[in-house]
Amino acid sequence: MTIQWFPGHMTRAKRQIQEKLKLIDITIELLDARVPLSSRNPMVDEILAGKPRLIILNKSDLADPRITEQWITYFKYEGHEVIAVDSSTGTKVNEIPEKARELLREKIERQLSKGINPRAVRGLIVGIPNVGKSTLINRLAGRNIAITGDRPGVTKGQQWIKVGTEMELLDTPGILWPKFEDELVGYRLAMTGAIREQVLNVEDIAFFALRDLAERYLPALQERFELDITSIDPANSDDIVQLMEAIGRKRGCLLSGGVVNLEKTAGIILREMRAGKLGRITYEAPFPDHAE
Ligand code: G4P
Repeated sequence: MTIQWFPGHMTRAKRQIQEKLKLIDITIELLDARVPLSSRNPMVDEILAGKPRLIILNKSDLADPRITEQWITYFKYEGHEVIAVDSSTGTKVNEIPEKARELLREKIERQLSKGINPRAVRGLIVGIPNVGKSTLINRLAGRNIAITGDRPGVTKGQQWIKVGTEMELLDTPGILWPKFEDELVGYRLAMTGAIREQVLNVEDIAFFALRDLAERYLPALQERFELDITSIDPANSDDIVQLMEAIGRKRGCLLSGGVVNLEKTAGIILREMRAGKLGRITYEAPFPDHAE
């Protein structure tokens, strides 16, 4: 899905989410575990202000588990509950309703002490395009998809999906925009496939990707592409271009005269990276040993 985000669209998106906030108890902010900051909306704290928030690090099956743990610590420190999940297979998704109730524990306990039977926790999933919102909603809805019907105050056509007995979700997620003003954010999102390649040059995306990989995952690169390059200075553009050329030669991406076809090489690198062929990779880390 390609959405052109202009200021008017952002204002409308923000308003649409804020309308929905009136109907729900908690928000579920979906981030990509490989790029938790780049996949975060720059105004999310303002947009979701006042609602308890559960952070979900999605696509954790593709991310480096060690760094995912660091991100969990980071977001907890920010004061949020956080779970790393894989919505495509459902791993850890079943922990979401329980965590959601935990976020509302005080309110639920207050109701119980007054003899009120608490109703199901109502949630709204929000996130940038392609982060996995629909996949997660379908996964949470499961086979027993039970739509509970329109309710007063809900936009016409908007419905609730039952997640077990203790949680309900609005069936349409809140779509947020990414942080466009930062060029690196654009490239990181493109590396993960969240931004289509037509928007950015494929060779440039692969260049940024190789720079990150050379810095943090050189052994994985060497192994996958059978490279005998042992030392690379990720800050040196010439080194990165040479690395891309070496990969191109290994994969037979040659033009006449033996010149490496960088466009084709870039396509191969990105495809294999996104498919997890280089292992589980995270492009952003919260703590110094992996800082930029
Ligand atoms: P959205 O509603 O937020 O826009 O995202 P959506 O659910 O459509 O998911 C975008 C892509 O991400 C889908 O791939 C989906 O299968 C994949 N995806 C979602 N969650 C996970 C996850 O936890 N792990 C992995 N590995 N993949 C996940 P797709 O349909 O193949 O789309 P595309 O790859 O052609 O863009």
